[in-house]
Amino acid sequence: MNQKTAIDFIENQEWLGEAGEAIQPAILNAFKAGGETGQKIKNFLHGKWLGHPLHPVLTDVPVGSWTVAAVLDGIELAGNEDYQQGADAAISIGIAGAVASAVSGLTDWTATNGKRQKIGLMHGLLNLTATGLYATSLILRGNKKSRRAAITCSMIGYGITTAAAYLGGHLVYDEQMGVNHTAASEEYPKDFVAVLNENELAENTMKCVKAGEIPVLLAKKDGNIFAIANTCSHLGGPLAEGDLLDNCNVRCPWHGSVFSLKDGSVVDSPATEPQPKFDVRIQNGQIEVRLSKN
Ligand code: FES
Repeated sequence: MNQKTAIDFIENQEWLGEAGEAIQPAILNAFKAGGETGQKIKNFLHGKWLGHPLHPVLTDVPVGSWTVAAVLDGIELAGNEDYQQGADAAISIGIAGAVASAVSGLTDWTATNGKRQKIGLMHGLLNLTATGLYATSLILRGNKKSRRAAITCSMIGYGITTAAAYLGGHLVYDEQMGVNHTAASEEYPKDFVAVLNENELAENTMKCVKAGEIPVLLAKKDGNIFAIANTCSHLGGPLAEGDLLDNCNVRCPWHGSVFSLKDGSVVDSPATEPQPKFDVRIQNGQIEVRLSKN
């Protein structure tokens, strides 16, 4: 089975979609039940504080540790037992990193559907299996007689975690998860351009307009006009179709990220990257915008 066939196979598994639809609301409800604290924990796990998804940072720990363990186990199999303790320690560190990665990855996965949801769930199930094998290996390593069986468990776990890492890469590079979906900054207008007649933007409303080819969200609140990029940095949702909130914020209609209209910053995740913000002025009855330098 080549990579494309494997991805197609996963995408065709109806049970993965059904399982995803059942699990995701349960996780989101658990965060919701935690109120403000639950939202803070969710923001933390997505990586809002980092300005970047947290999950890919954490996945380096198990992949790196278990690679070290595989090398040291290989040395042991070749007849040198000097590095046994090092291999066991690397496996322990990898298991701790895998648990932290799982918690952050599960949080990111709650904001997926369709293909991303199915592949993400398979990625998680494979990693869960690999972590279970490494935990079994760690227990077996305590007994000299079961050392070979322990190393076999680790090796199978390493193969499975490599397959899971491939799916993680597919989610990022092909499905564009965890990348910033706002356009590259050079595409935004550096000089003021007219985008709308000022009479066409009523108080307490939002509108998507075009500055050149760039969709811009205009919002009017308390007589002030705000402008940020309309395409959500998370997965490209159209912010103008979301909710204009009381505190000068906007909520994305797709997965509920909240951004400040004042500066484009992330108020609530899953988004971790801010929205580009525009300066606004009125000239001859026209609303004009340009990319803000601040
Ligand atoms: S696209 Fe996911 S929160 Fe906007």
